[in-house]
Amino acid sequence: MKSDLTNQTNFWSKLEKPFIGLAPMDGVGDHPYRYIQKKYGQPDIIYTEFATVEGFCRGVTVPLRDFIFDKTQRPIIAQIYGKTPQFFRETATVVCQLGFDGIDINMGCPAKSVANGGAGAGLINTPKLAQEIIEATQAGVQDWVNGKTATDCEHITPEIAKEVEKRSLNLSEEYQQHQSIPVSVKTRIGFDSPIIDQWLPILLETKPAAIAIHGRTLRQGYSGKADWNEIGKAVRIAKDSSTLIIGNGDVSSKAEALEKVNQSGVDGVLIGRASFGNPWAFNDEDASINQKAAVALEHAQLYEKTFNEDEKYSFLPMRKHLSWYIKSFEKAKEVRKQLVLTNNSQEVKEIFDKYELL
Ligand SMILES: Cc1cc2nc3c(=O)[nH]c(=O)nc-3n(C[C@H](O)[C@H](O)[C@H](O)COP(=O)(O)O)c2cc1C
Repeated sequence: MKSDLTNQTNFWSKLEKPFIGLAPMDGVGDHPYRYIQKKYGQPDIIYTEFATVEGFCRGVTVPLRDFIFDKTQRPIIAQIYGKTPQFFRETATVVCQLGFDGIDINMGCPAKSVANGGAGAGLINTPKLAQEIIEATQAGVQDWVNGKTATDCEHITPEIAKEVEKRSLNLSEEYQQHQSIPVSVKTRIGFDSPIIDQWLPILLETKPAAIAIHGRTLRQGYSGKADWNEIGKAVRIAKDSSTLIIGNGDVSSKAEALEKVNQSGVDGVLIGRASFGNPWAFNDEDASINQKAAVALEHAQLYEKTFNEDEKYSFLPMRKHLSWYIKSFEKAKEVRKQLVLTNNSQEVKEIFDKYELL
């Protein structure tokens, strides 16, 4: 299954170091969110929220929604998760056809619904399967290079294959070529306790282009502090490999990201939660409350435009973003109470107008 990874189109090698990226975030990092983050914060790389390979290969179309993007977000990496190597292989071909710049495998999600079934951070306990999954994903990329498309994949339904083809025909010609894209991994420092010195060499054997490490164990979930010493250890372990090491956890600004780079030697940093309602976390610009409200409204309008034709369209998932944007406003509590009841961007605008936020 091993493919030759030396000649791949590798955007990672073209990145200026240190780079700062937007972390993958399920339920947050959809197309409107990523678009706004890139426009106002300019992260160097962007990950999608994770999408299930099991779902893709059982005909579920919902994950395709997570994979909407536009060219402003490049380089953009599609993150996938699951536990069945063959499904990773076929989904990798689909990801290539959709025109992504990279594929990332989630080996860090601690959610019971994911990890207890053996996917996400559950893979830290099954290193052989983890390696098989990386190799299967690399093989799926090679299938694409060899001419395969979604239609040729055994478990990809005609409905999904048709949508993938439609989207691929809208890509620029360059992205319709059957070019190789790099495969990376995002993981944690261990399952119950930090075991990066055992876990990282296992991942490195499969030569991923990059490994992003959230400095917590699965057991920790989001409690305690990210352990950047363990991340620094990973940098030393990987130093003779061609794999980039990316650190992640509790970074709230560009300045802090650069501090972590100096301290740990990572090639780049991912910022997750600090970007909520705050794309300026990536460039440390000071945004006024009026700017924040204007961006919140633009976000809400793009959200509507992107999704309002979906069968199960709802404005609900947008409401949390609105609250995040206005966090620093002195009347935040009062405004939030109204924003969480909004059902469209016009109602958002009326509230912002009332408080002279626009
Ligand atoms: C709401 C939410 C959703 C997340 N979803 C994903 C995901 O889909 N894939 C993934 O690899 N990590 C996911 N994470 C983890 C983040 O990518 C990141 O590793 C973590 O939040 C630590 O970084 P931070 O302290 O900068 O937030 C998620 C985190 C949050 C808060």
